[in-house]
Amino acid sequence: MLLSPEGVAFVTGAGGAVGRATVLQFARDGVVKMAGLDIAEPGLQETARLLKEVSPAARFLPLVADLTDGDQVRKAFQTVVDQFGRVDYAVNNAGIGAPHALTADAADADFDRVLGVNVRGVWNCERLELEQMAKQTPLPPVGGGVPGRVPSRGAIVNVDSVLGLLAMPKIALYTMSKHCVLGLTKTDALDYARLGVRVNAVCPGFIDTPLLTEEARNVLAPSIAKTAMGRLANAQEIADAIIYLCSERSSYMTGVSLAINVLRFFTLHMNRDGGRHFDDLRPASWIPFSSRRV
Ligand SMILES: NC(=O)c1ccc[n+]([C@@H]2O[C@H](COP(=O)([O-])OP(=O)(O)OC[C@H]3O[C@@H](n4cnc5c(N)ncnc54)[C@H](O)[C@@H]3O)[C@@H](O)[C@H]2O)c1
Repeated sequence: MLLSPEGVAFVTGAGGAVGRATVLQFARDGVVKMAGLDIAEPGLQETARLLKEVSPAARFLPLVADLTDGDQVRKAFQTVVDQFGRVDYAVNNAGIGAPHALTADAADADFDRVLGVNVRGVWNCERLELEQMAKQTPLPPVGGGVPGRVPSRGAIVNVDSVLGLLAMPKIALYTMSKHCVLGLTKTDALDYARLGVRVNAVCPGFIDTPLLTEEARNVLAPSIAKTAMGRLANAQEIADAIIYLCSERSSYMTGVSLAINVLRFFTLHMNRDGGRHFDDLRPASWIPFSSRRV
């Protein structure tokens, strides 16, 4: 067994693709108490329906709330603690895309919307999760324990993006928001490690979910064909990485930005040829976080 049956999972964006896959995988890996937060109720209902098929014994608490509203988040989170008594695995997954635009052309409303969900939303949750986890007693080791594996008081995983590590043209707001979340992840990892709470992030490349618009798919198709796998990731593959970072199997990992597949490809090609492989995205070429060439 990978996770504790006594553990409680909390997943934001649980009605969306990655959030739903994560909830279902928590159940397959032994968790029976789960809460899912989303702004859209129909998606949450569908997650609840599928969860019943995967694990009839699982209890799922659907929470409809807007992550940008601190009061709504506080109320929702308190409901989880009241119902289940603790939160052991927290996945701050909900996020939105941004319109393709040069910074000078971007609207103030887009700044507020994208940073509101992707940054403020994570911040609103993470501070409550840290407060709760730091004061709860650690769960007993999974399956009686394996020598060397150290249980924690809680594990937080932020669903970031390869655009938290790198940049691409005309999507500064999204890129900025995902860089912000890695800053929060790393700082909280340092501040809470000795309190027994781990904080990590996954940084996927492009995933086959509704967040990737038809327009984005068309623009990106030639680049995706050149990635190591030659295809998009699917939500399940991201969920599997999230579960690993929640589990005792990653007990010495905190502050990690786990790039899922694409980073290596981008880094290599951008450094070697300055982005000429990305002809479809010219005239602007992709730039790595560091402009140093190897
Ligand atoms: N799809 C990709 O290509 C891709 C790539 C890298 C990273 N990501 C990240 O993965 C995460 C999950 O994305 P997904 O692809 O599953 O998208 P999705 O659109 O399927 O799911 C996102 C969920 O977040 C919810 N949400 C949006 N705004 C909210 C708010 N204010 N309050 C509460 N819930 C809200 C939506 O209702 C939706 O259910 C996001 O953080 C995204 O940035 C996605």
